[in-house]
Amino acid sequence: MANPDTPARSVLVLNGPNLNLLGIREPEVYGKDTLADIEALCHTTAAAHGLRADFRQSNHEGVLIDAVQEARITHRGILINPAGYSHTSVALRDALAASELPIVEVHLSNIHRREPFRHFSYVSAVADTVICGAGAHGYALGLAQLALLTEAVR
Ligand code: DQA
Repeated sequence: MANPDTPARSVLVLNGPNLNLLGIREPEVYGKDTLADIEALCHTTAAAHGLRADFRQSNHEGVLIDAVQEARITHRGILINPAGYSHTSVALRDALAASELPIVEVHLSNIHRREPFRHFSYVSAVADTVICGAGAHGYALGLAQLALLTEAVR
């Protein structure tokens, strides 16, 4: 549990394209939780670990890259679900590498049990930790891990 006397470490929780549709979009694959449900889970989990979650979503690659570049200065770590850009974006991968921050990659679904084009993620090679197939709980697991990683670089 967080020490109330210690200022919260701010971490960026970044969500890629189509994750704004969670709850409606293929619930048999991604679950019934909406992105707002996941945001609430992240705020609660982050607080329990002495973190402050800056929760964002964008459908635009450049907006995600700008957020990662800014996080280098303003945040202590990044939890990212790059969604479809996991499998396509060298530029997002490069931005994450340049951030020099601890990075946790999360996917709701088990991407390795799905179509072959989802088995490779450009982000995984620059992530410290990869979590997939745990549904929304993966975000809670990811924040717990990010708390350890950001503690280590304090
Ligand atoms: C996803 C998996 C990706 O393959 C897909 O494009 C997504 C969501 C997941 O959370 O399971 O949009 O990242």
